[in-house]
Amino acid sequence: MIYVAILGFGVVGSGVAEVLTTNQESIDRRVRDEIRLKYILDVRDFPDSPYADKFVKDFSVIENDPEVSVVVETIGGATVALDFTRRALQAGKSVVSSNKELVATHGYDLLQLAKEKKVSYLFEASVGGGIPILRPLTSCLAANELTEVCGILNGTTNYILTRMIRGGLSFDAALKEAQEKGYAERDPSADIQGQDACRKICILAALAFGQHIYPSQVPTEGITGITLEDVAYADSCGRKIKLLGRAIRREDGKICAYVAPHLLDGEEPLAGVEDVFNAISVTGNAIGEVMFYGRGAGKLPTASAVVADVIDAARSMGQSKYLDWGPGGEDITFSPDTLSDRWYVRLHAPAEEVRARLGEVQFLARPGATEGETAFLTGRQYTRPELDRALEGLSADSVIRMYH
Ligand code: HSE
Repeated sequence: MIYVAILGFGVVGSGVAEVLTTNQESIDRRVRDEIRLKYILDVRDFPDSPYADKFVKDFSVIENDPEVSVVVETIGGATVALDFTRRALQAGKSVVSSNKELVATHGYDLLQLAKEKKVSYLFEASVGGGIPILRPLTSCLAANELTEVCGILNGTTNYILTRMIRGGLSFDAALKEAQEKGYAERDPSADIQGQDACRKICILAALAFGQHIYPSQVPTEGITGITLEDVAYADSCGRKIKLLGRAIRREDGKICAYVAPHLLDGEEPLAGVEDVFNAISVTGNAIGEVMFYGRGAGKLPTASAVVADVIDAARSMGQSKYLDWGPGGEDITFSPDTLSDRWYVRLHAPAEEVRARLGEVQFLARPGATEGETAFLTGRQYTRPELDRALEGLSADSVIRMYH
């Protein structure tokens, strides 16, 4: 018998309890053992829950119960969750997590601790919700030298952008709708400011390239600045605005990761990813480009990934499974400012001034454009500092927007 404890009975934690119970028979068959939920830790009371007899408030009950061999951490954040994860691993229990903040900030240390204790620290659900991505990255694509991982990593922002693009809603109206539908958190700042995508690209980069990348090393811009004017300019040239997390490995082995809005050509596969869906594209020297697509959030899709990890941890008792990477450091990254790209720029300056500085660019038009507003797409030859320099000296604060 393998006993499981769930920490945190929120959306994901309750989904895990539901999947473990509903699919008990088929799970037992796969593990060739019996997996049973023994405890649920939460500070709140749930007297009407079907799992009412399993609730505890004191983590040491779980920590000190030798029968519990797998702990599911769905608390979130990097304070209490870090303490409980460390203590569970120290106590020789495998930990399964959906907590991207914790993995992105402390993943290396926790993986080391898991290895030392010969248990697993697994977190498939931390990136892409229900999409199998971390395991394919580390096993199915293991033969490749991976060079790039890029994707739509946040369902809330993709929903907001989709409603702006297809429904003509303003950012505020689309955010309100996302909250009403339960997609966005009540405090949606980590989603709309890009931190959630930042944490996910850190985890993907660490797994793809084998070294810990910290969120502080990843320049991050969210979607709060995007307006319907930008959407209209993008539409005028067959493009869609998407928030992308991107990580690249240079030939010298250095890594660059960033999160920013991009105006994607409508023909690109990522441009067609809509609503709360996520998609991740991985490039390797043998496979070329491969894409993963599916529901990046939500109770049962995320629980599906968590429970798969529980099954994996149960099957590999006594050993550390799959995931591993090396330490991070200042000297392993390079700045996205050195990457050349095509840029979308919207500014207050006459088109002639832009032409005088940049030569021929693709000027964009939108119905109802205000007097003195100019928008354009550059060629692919500019790094961000080069573009800034080329536009220097235009009237102060003239640049309204600058996206990849
Ligand atoms: N807030 C996240 C999103 C949930 O919208 O994608 C899944 O990590």
